[in-house]
Amino acid sequence: MNPSKGVILYHGKYGGTCQYAQWIAETTGLPLFDLRKDKPDLRNYDFFILGSAIYIGRFAIRHWLTANWKLLHDKPVLLFSVSGTAPDHPDLKTYFEQSFEPTIRQAVDWIPLRGRLNLQKLPWFLRLMLKWVGKHQEDEEARQRMTEGFDFVERQNIEAVIEWAEEQMGVAAA
Ligand SMILES: Cc1cc2nc3c(=O)[nH]c(=O)nc-3n(C[C@H](O)[C@H](O)[C@H](O)COP(=O)(O)O)c2cc1C
Repeated sequence: MNPSKGVILYHGKYGGTCQYAQWIAETTGLPLFDLRKDKPDLRNYDFFILGSAIYIGRFAIRHWLTANWKLLHDKPVLLFSVSGTAPDHPDLKTYFEQSFEPTIRQAVDWIPLRGRLNLQKLPWFLRLMLKWVGKHQEDEEARQRMTEGFDFVERQNIEAVIEWAEEQMGVAAA
């Protein structure tokens, strides 16, 4: 049996999602595409690792994934999200529900990861918006994150994604 061909596709603007996607590509040897500029032929692949930043309570990849679901729905799909919110925080589930219809939510394996925010690198209006939203947060941790920035991007966070990918490759080789 031919080995299963996987691919990594990501959508993120400020580097955290891209960094995770690059580490996953380095570890697995899978090809990598940036959905903000590339248009790979999805029919060439048997499984998908999708990376999505979260901005203002929504997954950045939501329009792309909904539009391309017909081509992905019968194949294994892992979605890793990259957010400021911690993986175990209930807000993340709300973001997930706000971004995808139930069919997609039930079919994908979702792994939430934490990203980074360097306020100096943002355009002034976003910096201002985040500071304003941050100031009005009741949650102390969220307030600090939005007003001061943060960096939770660490290579060891991709472990569960790598395990999933190896399982897909192992299934095909068996
Ligand atoms: C404009 C903006 C809005 C954001 N909104 C949220 C949010 O609603 N919830 C959250 O958990 N993180 C939020 N974040 C944090 C991002 O998810 C985090 O910075 C992540 O690393 C973004 O991915 P990227 O580095 O690939 O752009 C926001 C970041 C920016 C710049």
